[in-house]
Amino acid sequence: MNATLTRVPHLLHGGDYNPDQWLRYPEILEKDVELMKKAGCNAMSVGIFAWAALEPEEGKYEFGWLDQVIDRLYQNGIYTVLATPSGARPGWMAAKYPEVLRVNADGRRIPFSARHNHCPTSPVYREKVRLINTALARRYAGHPGVILWHISNEYGGACYCPLCREAFREWLKKKYGTLDELNHAWWTAFWSKTYPSWDLIDPPFDNGERGVHGLTLDWMRFVTDQTVDFMKAEVAPLKEANPALPVTTNMMGFYPGLNYFKFRDVSDVISWDNYPSWHEGDDRETALSTAMTHDLMRSIKPGKPFLMMESCPSAVNWKPYAKLKRPGMHELASLQAVARGSDSVQYFQWRKGRGGFEKFHGAVVGHLGTGDTREFREVEALGKRLKGLSKLAGSRFVSRAAIICDTENRWALQEMRGLIQEDKGYLAEVRRHYAPLFRMGVNVDLIDEESSLEGYELVAAPMLYMLRAGIAEKLRAFAEKGGTLVFTYWSGIVNDTDLTFLGGFPGGGLQELFGVRMEEIDTLYPADRNGAEVLPAGKEAGLQDRYEIRDYTEISHPAGAEVLAVYESDFIRGLPALTVNRFGKGRVYYAAAVFEDGFYRDFYRKLVSDLSLRPLEVDLPEGVYLSERRLEDNTSCYIFQNFNTEEVSLALPKTLTSLETGESLETLVLPGYGTVFLL
Ligand code: GAL
Repeated sequence: MNATLTRVPHLLHGGDYNPDQWLRYPEILEKDVELMKKAGCNAMSVGIFAWAALEPEEGKYEFGWLDQVIDRLYQNGIYTVLATPSGARPGWMAAKYPEVLRVNADGRRIPFSARHNHCPTSPVYREKVRLINTALARRYAGHPGVILWHISNEYGGACYCPLCREAFREWLKKKYGTLDELNHAWWTAFWSKTYPSWDLIDPPFDNGERGVHGLTLDWMRFVTDQTVDFMKAEVAPLKEANPALPVTTNMMGFYPGLNYFKFRDVSDVISWDNYPSWHEGDDRETALSTAMTHDLMRSIKPGKPFLMMESCPSAVNWKPYAKLKRPGMHELASLQAVARGSDSVQYFQWRKGRGGFEKFHGAVVGHLGTGDTREFREVEALGKRLKGLSKLAGSRFVSRAAIICDTENRWALQEMRGLIQEDKGYLAEVRRHYAPLFRMGVNVDLIDEESSLEGYELVAAPMLYMLRAGIAEKLRAFAEKGGTLVFTYWSGIVNDTDLTFLGGFPGGGLQELFGVRMEEIDTLYPADRNGAEVLPAGKEAGLQDRYEIRDYTEISHPAGAEVLAVYESDFIRGLPALTVNRFGKGRVYYAAAVFEDGFYRDFYRKLVSDLSLRPLEVDLPEGVYLSERRLEDNTSCYIFQNFNTEEVSLALPKTLTSLETGESLETLVLPGYGTVFLL
């Protein structure tokens, strides 16, 4: 059975609401509720940056205004997503307890300013957070209008203060036990870096140690662990007051500073903030990147819906160009979140403030203060549509294909020296495998190395440089049982502390799985090209005669695998560019180079057809995307979206019924920017 994420049996619609900025304007607060109802909003995130209004003086809480806001919303059918205010601390605290302020990587403490810059280790900050969270929980955790805790806001960054440095050393002691172990794991004999004492170990300051990759990697792991620990401390008093009230924290997609998969257990619900740059370049490509980000976020808890906690109804004021969303894009982009598994369309922000950094950031209500704007009308129209889609609330997003996109692997690749220095191309490689699957309408998860492979039939693991969390054993077992695997160049190179495997690549027991022995990798200059000549066996695998190759060519030798394509030129002419190995009941592919896009399209088309991975046998025109959500009775809802500005039509493989109008359809006519939900 599908359970909804909150106790609300509808898709959530609303956004960040900051009444604390408007306490001198009671008429505006009244008007807000009237406009929220008009816009079809049912959930508001309240109190995110309200600490100064909630506790204007140390220990003196002012909850009267919040009581009124939550009650008024509830009386009008609008639920509250209640925030803990730790994302920005009040001035009195900064003045009295400077240790709550973060120290940057340059070693300087940040003065009282901005937000998102507290120290996650500071006992004083943790205690102040515990006190305010306890007070909030005691007062509101049982309120019928409160449906979800919004923990802090966009956790991120790192603190380099003495308390964090000491906590890092303790974390290392726990991990390695002895300095000897640590020195070996970090290979510190290099450049005489051997640490004679724990006290000498510091985080990678701007002017500090950047050459010991094990250190940098562990520091980033520590920052994640410390943030998760901080979140756990935030959540404890909330759960004490009401264990049934779920918690979430809003994440930032591919933000590289935290390993979000480590937040899986401390979050009941995954949520994230979505700010694509629509109308910059080809929207169909932007839609693909955005879908990929939704998929990454959803896959932290695979199969479960997530919440889009923020998105902008119009212009995002912090982008290099604050361009307006063209008419129709708001609905299309919002419904894309629903198509990828979101149970909400939430905005930043409900109302534009009069002052401050975000006074010109898009909002449902602008400085005009009425519903008589294009922006508002688009939100209102969407609100009506979302009401008709309540059946989707709680529905699952089931994928039989997955791509491993591991944050720690990404960190390690970025830190290592070699390949294409500035950007090793990890996310670009992940996208090459994602794009054809997405374009064929195959539901895909983006999982990490710690995730289970249960339920998948196809797993791609591009640039699997770092092997950790028993991934090699999981992949072997997966192939043995009949799974299909796709690997690329630069895989199985290091263990989880970034020490290379000895005795040949791919290491960690993967050589047998690949059926290939790798010898060296060549990094090509931007203008360099090679080609792949496809052999007859490759043509049977759905490939054409030839594909262009660039960026990387790995030099490898078959050790059991069958060669499907070979390099066309240079001194590597005739060596394998693509192989397949039979392993157990499964098949294991290895692409030794970066190919042109057409290669991935042809390659995956055949795999998808062999494994019947498409939810519907339908040829999608360019820019038309399909996904599937599973309703409570396990039937499918097929969602088609047209990211072209022109109308498209396509023949459906069977008669389907519109979820919204009940109309039966054999041919689908989708207007430009149109979305349909079919059963
Ligand atoms: C988010 C943040 C919001 C708001 C928004 C503006 O990153 O969580 O508080 O600042 O950006 O786009």
